Amino acid sequence: MVSAPIDPPALESALRPFGESTMLPASAYVDEHVLDWERRHLFAGSWVPVGRTAALAEGGNQRAVTVGDVGVLLTFDGGHPRAFANVCRHRGHELLPAGEAADRPAVLCPYHGWSYGLDGRMRTAPRMGETFDGRAYGLVELPAVDWHGWLFVNATGTARPFAAHVGALGAHVSPYRPESLVSKARHEYEVAANWKIVAENYHECYHCPLIHPELCAVSPPNSGSNWREPGAWVGGSMDLRDHASTMSLDGRSYGVALDGVDPRLVRYFGLFPNMLISLHPDYVMTHLLEPLSPHRTRITCEWLFRDEVTDPSYAVEFWDLTNRQDWRACESVQRGARTVGAQRERGLRLGHADRTRLPRPGGRALLRRPPPSTSDVRLTHRPGTRAGRRDPEPTRR
Ligand code: FES
Ligand SMILES: [Fe+2]
Repeated sequence: MVSAPIDPPALESALRPFGESTMLPASAYVDEHVLDWERRHLFAGSWVPVGRTAALAEGGNQRAVTVGDVGVLLTFDGGHPRAFANVCRHRGHELLPAGEAADRPAVLCPYHGWSYGLDGRMRTAPRMGETFDGRAYGLVELPAVDWHGWLFVNATGTARPFAAHVGALGAHVSPYRPESLVSKARHEYEVAANWKIVAENYHECYHCPLIHPELCAVSPPNSGSNWREPGAWVGGSMDLRDHASTMSLDGRSYGVALDGVDPRLVRYFGLFPNMLISLHPDYVMTHLLEPLSPHRTRITCEWLFRDEVTDPSYAVEFWDLTNRQDWRACESVQRGARTVGAQRERGLRLGHADRTRLPRPGGRALLRRPPPSTSDVRLTHRPGTRAGRRDPEPTRR
């Protein structure tokens, strides 16, 4: 596998053992060549969620998406999702433009008219002659898995099995039964920050007392625990304050509690590379990160509830406010990375990567550890956490 285009010596401090490591070098956040590498090896080469399966199937039985730098054609035959390389087997024309959907009985290449079934098998190849054997020219199928209502695709077909990718995360997510929940709100943000800065920010609450007074009013920023279990994910839990039953501005839930889940915990997970999953007692929230450039990320935030919930605004208002507080901080860190990049010959470096290096409050605050590598990707990118110290008392609203 090709290593990331970053000088190995510049990565050395980021790859030190947990507790001693620093952030990645500035180039990891600002360099177009690094993003090209990530798109191929961390996105296309891994398992990436392309959306809610039910939503993807709306509007047609075919949909084209881009995973990392690879075009993927999704088909839905009677609702059953499949994924194929979005490439005609004749001369390589895309079967459907990225982002578009179609609803017709066959996949039809617009270049010379070859057609395929929704199962990928060749159906017709006009005027190719009687000796032409179309059976050898079916579409190339890619691994695709519906996991709790989200459709995951491995666009290069080289990742390890999906079960190994999610590992033990399923045991944390299953009680919330996201597959039974309904999307009630969806926000799309464009943030002027590298996608890794957004992911790193999600995994530390060291910043919460300073920029999230509303969050600290319902959840102590130094509460909770971290889990280190198999799978390409990191995460942990945080507690709700005594008066709060969920994450909302007044701590009250105006939805419906989910059966069989801990009513006092909120769980926060980052599933490598780009999915953030936040599990609340009464709703599930996800952020999907799509890098647009080294300096820009599209973030799709979605809220899932029990179907009978009619007004999700109590959760949406809370997290939209918190999201925007986070995006401002991430954009500032991105500007810092640019400054560090410009000053590196004078020795300016990005800072600490994890909080275990310094005293922390009983080891209980939410922290991040490096994501486990997938079998097909040697992770030379290893996002770290920032330095920790005792969190000040949260500011109450
Ligand atoms: S490239 Fe598709 S039919 Fe020729
Ligand atoms: Fe935050």
